[in-house]
Amino acid sequence: MSVQQNIYLIGLMGAGKTTVGRNLARLMKLTFIDTDQQLEQRTGVSVSYIFEMEGEEGFRERESNLLKEIGQKTAHVVSTGGGIVLRPENRSMMRRSGTVIYLSAPFAVLWTRLRRSKTRPLLVTEDPQSTLRQLMELREPLYQEAADITMDVDTGSAINMARSIRQKLQA
Ligand code: S3P
Repeated sequence: MSVQQNIYLIGLMGAGKTTVGRNLARLMKLTFIDTDQQLEQRTGVSVSYIFEMEGEEGFRERESNLLKEIGQKTAHVVSTGGGIVLRPENRSMMRRSGTVIYLSAPFAVLWTRLRRSKTRPLLVTEDPQSTLRQLMELREPLYQEAADITMDVDTGSAINMARSIRQKLQA
């Protein structure tokens, strides 16, 4: 992999993109960026509030615009929001400007991490467990399509996952 390229982490909410990404950036001495945190910093409000005010579509528009900017950068580790793969233009932007790593986690691991989350607007439903299952089914093919490398997430630490990713990238 060229060090000029970005590294994108994709996957469902709860897969650990943010913590793994931060560790990976440190290991590889690259700059870390998290798309949700970036949108929150720029707007001064939470992701949930953006969903409330502008709907999912408004959020997706902001997310895509941000990704276009990030695609012009080099040598960043980018942790993305779980829905970034929904727009084809986002999938191609990531593939053009970097290596895309899918953190693939079993449903049980995701649900354990997310069941008490208050910060995921898409899971504010009558039955968040079924909602998560549906999102997983719908998105799995999109993550697969976008990914250069798939990493199976278990209950191990974020630093060990970051080390495994670095090994794959350097192989
Ligand atoms: C979303 C995932 C969230 C955030 C927003 C929508 C999704 O990011 O972007 O709530 O559509 O899966 P995380 O994957 O970091 O939780």
